[in-house]
Amino acid sequence: MKAYFGRRYMLSASHRLHADRFTPEQNRQAYGKCNNPHGHGHNYVVEVLVSGPVDPEKGMVIDLADLDGIFAAQVMERFDHRSLNLDPAFAGQVPTTENLCQVVFGLLEDCLPAGRLESVRIEETENNFFESYRQ
Ligand code: NI
Repeated sequence: MKAYFGRRYMLSASHRLHADRFTPEQNRQAYGKCNNPHGHGHNYVVEVLVSGPVDPEKGMVIDLADLDGIFAAQVMERFDHRSLNLDPAFAGQVPTTENLCQVVFGLLEDCLPAGRLESVRIEETENNFFESYRQ
């Protein structure tokens, strides 16, 4: 039987919502004050959900130290206390939290056994959250 394990991480980063192909007026209309040239920061809460059979010896879906190591290497070292706009992952797309969610999902999925990463959920503020699921 499949079981699920979820883990929560804190990630602080800044972004500016700006589409290169939009005019300044279109950017202001689309993103409002999030288009401010100086950007703004978020303390993102990133929730990672992993599934799989429970290992009969360890009694675990995944060793959380392994997941912590993957998350640290793939996500924290790359994005924590950085501007998302400056990362190559966002060279061709706006660093909305929808897109951040998909980027984080892809980075983690590449480092986990196939089919084990179920979802990545990112809380951007108290009121906003975004989720990406395995297709
Ligand atoms: Ni924002």
